[in-house]
Amino acid sequence: MKIAFIGAGQVGAPLAARLAEAAHEVTLAETKEGSDSLARALARSTRLTSRPLLDAVQRADVVFLATPFGANAALLEPLAERLADKVLVDCTNPVGPGLSHGLKSERAGSELVQSLVPKAHVVKAFSIYGFENFEDPTYDGYDVRAAMLFCGDDAGSKQRVATLIMDCGFEPVDVGGLAQALHLEHMTLLWVRMVRAHGASPHLVWAALRRPRPAP
Ligand SMILES: NC(=O)c1ccc[n+]([C@@H]2O[C@H](COP(=O)([O-])OP(=O)(O)OC[C@H]3O[C@@H](n4cnc5c(N)ncnc54)[C@H](OP(=O)(O)O)[C@@H]3O)[C@@H](O)[C@H]2O)c1
Repeated sequence: MKIAFIGAGQVGAPLAARLAEAAHEVTLAETKEGSDSLARALARSTRLTSRPLLDAVQRADVVFLATPFGANAALLEPLAERLADKVLVDCTNPVGPGLSHGLKSERAGSELVQSLVPKAHVVKAFSIYGFENFEDPTYDGYDVRAAMLFCGDDAGSKQRVATLIMDCGFEPVDVGGLAQALHLEHMTLLWVRMVRAHGASPHLVWAALRRPRPAP
């Protein structure tokens, strides 16, 4: 797939490098002159390239948003037409004071993102764990992969994102429409509070274990 990343920091850089190494055509968007994070991300893989923001988005079928949540409105509004019919993978989380939900749980951050780019197909993914698990999603000794819960309203877009989730080493778990993003954002806060505030290891992920539904 042709993929662009807006934001190449702790989240964007490892995901971009993994997807580039998985033979996708990955371009990092240049949003700021002399960005250190962009330079560090490019150094991760010779398969990564960078281009000016508008150009990177124009060429992509799938665009990852991995920026501070507060930057999204100013960044996305001018891109609304360019993102029409493209998949926008929202990795961002609205975090408020005291590790609370940044939109007071009244609305999902991803729904706000969707309202900024109404013609794009927003899929929330790669948001529920810390970046440590994007650097290395492997857990030896288990015969299941770390689950990556994701949601969105467009089935075709979710199919593409599911493929990218697998390429990054996770098991995709489709949890429904974009309205579910609020609950994924609360899962993120749970993980962040456990790890960043209460000292649990960041190498902590959830797994999906399934049995067939019992016959009625
Ligand atoms: N950190 C985690 O463990 C984690 C895990 C899951 C999801 N998230 C979410 O993912 C998002 C990114 O987190 P992160 O930890 O990767 O942040 P980060 O390391 O600070 O990286 C942010 C990236 O966004 C760029 N950026 C910042 N302001 C921008 C703006 N106004 N316009 C365009 N680009 C801008 C930065 O570029 P410059 O360096 O050039 O400023 C950098 O490349 C956040 O919404 C966060 O809540 C974080």
